[in-house]
Amino acid sequence: MAIDLLLGLQWGDEGKGKIVDVLTKKYDIIARFQGGPNAGHTLEFEGIKHVLHTIPSGIFHPKAMNIVGNGVVIDPVIFREELENLSPFDINVRDSLLVSRKAHLILPTHRLLDAASEKAKGSAKIGSTLKGIGPTYMDKTGRNGIRVGDIELPQWKEIYSALRDKHLTMIKNMNVVLDFNITDLDNAFYDAINYMKSSVTFIDSEAYLSTAQKNNQRILAEGAQGSLLDIDFGTYPFVTSSNTTAAGACTGLGVAPNKIGEVYGIFKAYTTRVGSGPFPTELFDETGETMGRVGHEFGATTGRARRCGWLDLVALKYAVEINGVTQLMMMKGDVLSGFEELKVCTAYEYRGKTIHHLPYSLNEKELTPQYTSLSGWEEDLTKMRDESELPATFNDYVAFIEDYVQTPISIVSVGPDRSQTIFRDLT
Ligand code: GDP
Ligand code: IMO
Ligand code: MG
Repeated sequence: MAIDLLLGLQWGDEGKGKIVDVLTKKYDIIARFQGGPNAGHTLEFEGIKHVLHTIPSGIFHPKAMNIVGNGVVIDPVIFREELENLSPFDINVRDSLLVSRKAHLILPTHRLLDAASEKAKGSAKIGSTLKGIGPTYMDKTGRNGIRVGDIELPQWKEIYSALRDKHLTMIKNMNVVLDFNITDLDNAFYDAINYMKSSVTFIDSEAYLSTAQKNNQRILAEGAQGSLLDIDFGTYPFVTSSNTTAAGACTGLGVAPNKIGEVYGIFKAYTTRVGSGPFPTELFDETGETMGRVGHEFGATTGRARRCGWLDLVALKYAVEINGVTQLMMMKGDVLSGFEELKVCTAYEYRGKTIHHLPYSLNEKELTPQYTSLSGWEEDLTKMRDESELPATFNDYVAFIEDYVQTPISIVSVGPDRSQTIFRDLT
């Protein structure tokens, strides 16, 4: 049976966690394929808000199996906190959460290297979440990393110490001042590893998923971050260090491209970005401020304020094409209620020409967004549950997007709660 993918199409925080939770009842397995604790996926139901960083967003459904794939990087200390946060909720983690032995581990010194690298960059910093993501993927591709399977070996502490010492030498050579106590960091890491070993099951996840496919189990691959943060196709160097696009699901889970079924692309009805880097449709005025306030645009991982702006259809179309999106899901339409006029970017003026694709650089000195204006809606959408209740101008906004990107929007989300989800009839 084919594996379906769910991906963010912008700069992350599109609402992936919410939609995975909504869709999980249709699936037997939810598998995260890349990223790590830089992600913050929010789920809301029964009046409680949950934020997951490494654990797949199907964890609250008793029948679903959740897999942390080989493409994910795991910080045992954060993973332990996440597991502990689940303890009040009667979840049998031992039976519903499996971790790939090939997933790489984030060491405390990876976090220090991340901080040192950002300090050394000064004003050119990436705006990393400082979770050690870049240095861990560097060790992975540099063939120096430590994997989950290594901590099952009797000599795992020696393997750990060798890499930690190498990192400490690198940090010394970077000439930046960092305040840390390595013994405390080591001990927290050792404790967390022991906790992880005693609470979750490690597996050869590619073999597990291959058998599951043969047995016709329904599998949903959950992405982290968004396409514009992809290491190859994002706004480099202001990106994360993994492939956040559809191809990342193949390498991050061991799934063949011809086994991919639906590709669900999630986007916000406007745009946000947290951290540094170009953002052509960013708003610095009251409109942007209103989007941030009404949409509670603060990072689920770092608490930082998210930058806000109009929907960029040129960038959205690019993401749809790169991922082969088959269905779109539009989030946070409720946040736009009350704007008389809505703008969407439909072209870029780039180096003196009008273009309709994402160029090599989104540098603001070379690129100006061109907008089309659409009418807004006054109605509060948050209590609506059926397509028939949606205002005409909202439907026009949706139809304009579908027409521009040539892909249907199957879900519109009108609030953070699981129940605030409207399925559109596409027949
Ligand atoms: P993710 O990283 O893609 O899972 O998204 P985040 O959880 O980081 O950010 C999305 C935020 O928007 C969370 O606070 C969600 O609870 C919230 N959210 C999701 N969908 C909607 C929606 O349709 N309307 C509103 N107002 N909030 C939403
Ligand atoms: P979810 O899965 C939004 C951003 C950071 C920074 C850049 C690099 O919740 O959508 P990193 O820590 O990866 O080195 O940071 O990427 N970033 C995210 N922005 N949502 C995320 O994840 C993000 N993960 C990383 O802010 O600009
Ligand atoms: Mg998030």
